[in-house]
Amino acid sequence: MMLLVLLGLLPYLASAVVLDKKAEAYVGSTTSDIFPPTGTKVNSDLFPGETGVGYPGVTVTGVEPAAVQTAASYAYNTGSLSSYPLVVDQPEDGDQNIDISKYWGNLSPWYSVPSSFYGLNDTTPLAPEGCSVTQVHLLYRHGARYPTSGSAPYQFSGKMANATKQQGGFNAWGELEFLNDWTFKLGAELLTVSGRLQNFALGAAFRQQYGYLLNNFTEQGTLPVFRTESQDRMVKTAENFAAGMFGVPEYMDQVNIEIMVETSGVNNTGAPYETCTNSNVASRGSIGSTAANAFAKNAFNGTIDRLQGQITGVNITSTDIIAMLQLCSYETDALGYSAFCKLFTKEDFENYEYYYDISFYYNNGAGSPVAAAQGKGFLSEFVARFTQTPNPAADNSINSTLDNNPTYFPLNQSIYADATHEVILLDTFTALNLSALFSSGPLPTDKRTQSSFKASQVVPFATHLVIQVLECQNTSPSKQIRFILNDAVLPIDQSYEGCEWNKDGLCSFDNVVRALQQRVEEIDWEYDCHGNYTAVLGKDYNGRARRG
Ligand SMILES: *[C@@H]1O[C@H](CO)[C@@H](O)[C@H](O)[C@H]1NC(C)=O
Ligand SMILES: *[C@@H]1O[C@H](CO)[C@@H](O)[C@H](O)[C@H]1NC(C)=O
Ligand SMILES: *[C@@H]1O[C@H](CO)[C@@H](O)[C@H](O)[C@H]1NC(C)=O
Ligand SMILES: *[C@@H]1O[C@H](CO)[C@@H](O)[C@H](O)[C@H]1NC(C)=O
Ligand SMILES: *[C@@H]1O[C@H](CO)[C@@H](O)[C@H](O)[C@H]1NC(C)=O
Ligand SMILES: *[C@@H]1O[C@H](CO)[C@@H](O)[C@H](O)[C@H]1NC(C)=O
Ligand SMILES: *[C@@H]1O[C@H](CO)[C@@H](O)[C@H](O)[C@H]1NC(C)=O
Ligand SMILES: *[C@@H]1O[C@H](CO)[C@@H](O)[C@H](O)[C@H]1NC(C)=O
Ligand SMILES: *[C@@H]1O[C@H](CO)[C@@H](O)[C@H](O)[C@H]1NC(C)=O
Ligand SMILES: *[C@@H]1O[C@H](CO)[C@@H](O)[C@H](O)[C@H]1NC(C)=O
Repeated sequence: MMLLVLLGLLPYLASAVVLDKKAEAYVGSTTSDIFPPTGTKVNSDLFPGETGVGYPGVTVTGVEPAAVQTAASYAYNTGSLSSYPLVVDQPEDGDQNIDISKYWGNLSPWYSVPSSFYGLNDTTPLAPEGCSVTQVHLLYRHGARYPTSGSAPYQFSGKMANATKQQGGFNAWGELEFLNDWTFKLGAELLTVSGRLQNFALGAAFRQQYGYLLNNFTEQGTLPVFRTESQDRMVKTAENFAAGMFGVPEYMDQVNIEIMVETSGVNNTGAPYETCTNSNVASRGSIGSTAANAFAKNAFNGTIDRLQGQITGVNITSTDIIAMLQLCSYETDALGYSAFCKLFTKEDFENYEYYYDISFYYNNGAGSPVAAAQGKGFLSEFVARFTQTPNPAADNSINSTLDNNPTYFPLNQSIYADATHEVILLDTFTALNLSALFSSGPLPTDKRTQSSFKASQVVPFATHLVIQVLECQNTSPSKQIRFILNDAVLPIDQSYEGCEWNKDGLCSFDNVVRALQQRVEEIDWEYDCHGNYTAVLGKDYNGRARRG
């Protein structure tokens, strides 16, 4: 499917390459800069590093930070810090004083979500009174990225480039005037500058909060193994995270980064769609995308009319509106500012967010019949780590060549950190049965409504799930566990049998592990990923096609 889109673009891309510099500046044209210059490299003979020069001064390391245990309050990522250093306009309809970057679904920079959003009004990610965090499991997403080749922003730029070539070209004025000389400046797939910062900051924050758990590795005499996938942005994501956590250049010597191959047909828990064929089937794994596009067809009529009144030679469709909203997000995330953002009203941004809510709820959340199966790999690996049981069953995306080998799948770490894609994070939340995310039930696909499921809070850039394992004095049993998504502690009393409502989101470690083992049992990878069925939109599948 992607291949077809790409092939379709080839003639256009190929012809763009041979154009001269002036012609490249056509509206909608695509250009790329290349740094560093070819043939250059850093000269470490002329510019020796720290070891080469010597004289490092005093190097006392101090005690590892342990803010999750020691801080008087928790450091949330709110307000403008979440998008620093990006410049984000106010919406078109005046100064509403809203942060539009929080309405961009999976293209939002991550921001702290209050636990009260999910009903826990009186807790924070800090270790609760009488508890200490003894182990932490992190699952996180890459930061801001360029769009997929051939996706909506690319299509829009191609449409504008075509429009310049037709008789009379096109003419834009008023709010759309900038389009007269707009060119497409984005790359494809790679981590952007702000994305790099998001992952670096996440690593630094993680060290600040959980640094003391590294002492466990010191006692064992081993280095941590952190995992990611082979795509360039995923590798860079893990490296930036490690650089933030361990420092530059120390990260190169202080952590083993395991890169799992992501390509069609290869088992990889971080990229299960490569082996789960139904993930890409329109009537099964991507019913959400179809429903979201249908929603967009009705949601932007007023906006289309307004913008169409300021351009001739181009007919604006709902597809173009989504593309322009995405350009607002992608250009801001990659270039630091986008002229597209101030074209849209507060309501447009609310509809844009809801478009993503629908898409993700039905593609990778409870409304999908293939979500839990895709999350089953990470789920099984969590259970293996929780129970220190080697050899998790490879009846899903697990690669037993890796997971049966303690070098690549160690079971005695106090800190785990795996990087993956937002779809897989959400698939995994579905597999983990984190039902607080879906508590308001299936999302209506015809009109926007309030719901517990907000894509920008669940799958933004650098989204991260932290699972804390704790030892508590005042609970029985003393070993407890809780789940924290973008700083919101999630209630799990509805998720796992044997868990009662707890103000800090705690539950007995053993009860949760037992329920997760039951989840592993009940998720049918073979049928959900390879069965012949037709999914129904608007249903709570609990992420599974085959149930009961
Ligand atoms: C938690 O706070 C919200 C408002 O933030 C309120 O609507 C809700 O009733 C509170 N819940 C509890 C259990 O106090
Ligand atoms: C641009 O025009 C070419 C030639 O007519 C067409 O094949 C292509 O689909 C158009 N591209 C877009 C994005 O509309
Ligand atoms: C297991 O992973 C390795 C490295 O990522 C890869 O080369 C191999 O093909 C995978 N095995 C299977 C069965 O997919
Ligand atoms: C929006 O416009 C489309 C296409 O013109 C039309 O089919 C639809 O009924 C309109 N929706 C609303 C809510 O006005
Ligand atoms: C826009 O739509 C009108 C009415 O359908 C049509 O006549 C016109 O050719 C279209 N213009 C372009 C540039 O596609
Ligand atoms: C790869 O996944 C398939 C399907 O789950 C499984 O049957 C096979 O054993 C796995 N291979 C390895 C090497 O893990
Ligand atoms: C932890 O696992 C690693 C990898 O298998 C191993 O090298 C190390 O000895 C183990 N440490 C302990 C204390 O078991
Ligand atoms: C390190 O942490 C692991 C996982 O929590 C635990 O099994 C192990 O006993 C700890 N080792 C030491 C020396 O504290
Ligand atoms: C998963 O959550 C649902 C909804 O709260 C609950 O009915 C079900 O029992 C849970 N499943 C397991 C295995 O605990
Ligand atoms: C899938 O099921 C449909 C409806 O029963 C049937 O028409 C179709 O041939 C089946 N496809 C395959 C590949 O078995």
